[in-house]
Amino acid sequence: MNFNGTIKSRLPKAGTSIFAVMSGLANEVGAINLSQGFPDFPISMDLVNLVNGYMHKGFNQYAPMPGVPALREAIAQKALDTFGLQYDPASEITVTAGATEAIYCVITAMIHPGDEAIVIEPAYDSYAPAVLLSGGVVRYSSLQIPSYTINWPEVRSLINNRTKLILINTPHNPTGSVLTAADLVELEHVTHGTNIVVLSDEVYEHLIFDGIRHESVCYYPELAARSFVIGSFGKTFHTTGWKTGFIMAPAVLMAEVRKVHQFVVFASNTPIQYAVADYIKNKDNYLHLPSFYQQKRDLFAGLIKESKFRIIPSYGTYFQLLDYSAISDENEMDFAVRITKEYGVASVPVSPFYHDKQDNKVLRFCFAKTEETLVKAAEILCSI
Ligand SMILES: Cc1ncc(COP(=O)(O)O)c(C=O)c1O
Repeated sequence: MNFNGTIKSRLPKAGTSIFAVMSGLANEVGAINLSQGFPDFPISMDLVNLVNGYMHKGFNQYAPMPGVPALREAIAQKALDTFGLQYDPASEITVTAGATEAIYCVITAMIHPGDEAIVIEPAYDSYAPAVLLSGGVVRYSSLQIPSYTINWPEVRSLINNRTKLILINTPHNPTGSVLTAADLVELEHVTHGTNIVVLSDEVYEHLIFDGIRHESVCYYPELAARSFVIGSFGKTFHTTGWKTGFIMAPAVLMAEVRKVHQFVVFASNTPIQYAVADYIKNKDNYLHLPSFYQQKRDLFAGLIKESKFRIIPSYGTYFQLLDYSAISDENEMDFAVRITKEYGVASVPVSPFYHDKQDNKVLRFCFAKTEETLVKAAEILCSI
């Protein structure tokens, strides 16, 4: 089939996402797949049974546009218990089709043509395209290597009267770095007295290690009052395929986002929302996550210690960056492809997370895998 007309692409530079490319290659050559961020172990049968139960009971039609009340109430209770911050479930919480839809709706609702958004790189790949689709301008600031910390003087220098949005992400994909209390205070200062809103991508809020507190904007009242906080049950309950997430924000901001959400998906998956509403009430179902993933991080990093790769500390998420500059001077993409094909371990190069494909000779490995997978992968990496 062929279309004979002309198409002017809205996203001329967008190709296939690096996650799909590397996962595809891993499948093709039968490599251990530590590229895409998803768990390879079973999820809780209690959660599966809850979804099943709600389907059997007939909860299979459209949910209310902002989400089922039971889930919005449970999210509000969790935020109150965790951060001491009260969100109104009726007007300040919306359930979305994953965090990706949440990000898209927030950006679309906030950015007018010509507005500027500050994206801190390396960054999750959906931020910039959403800004561009709204006719916005992306201003980039790079995290400082090797600690992957925010360069606040640079961020300050990017702010002007067209700046509408600053996007932050903690714990951070792809680096595993986390924002500190000092970062949040700095963000409060740089936005103070402005109309800037903050998109705080906190999808890895429960995947944080070494006893570090997750620094949510929710702990900082002035920031919370200008922020969209985005979460993902896909990350929290090992169910990335369910694509269920949420947004919390002050009512005036949320009203604008709901106008977009209703025309993107209208509502998200009904039985899953009811099931998560029940499951999330038991705090043990998410409070065990730091130690659960820290064990995996420590196992993987402990085994890699003997290799030629240099470990860049991961304080959160389920990603481990490894610097391979002692092994090769190939660029990240070439090296990632070669070790997938020749050695059978797939990872993700970090360069595609930068708009200018900055190449620092680091690869991202996902450790949300069984012990057996991690041991096998580490053995191979130690042989390179
Ligand atoms: C930083 C970040 N934000 C958002 C998402 C998207 O989450 P979801 O799968 O719920 O759409 C991801 C998924 O990898 C992510 O890493």
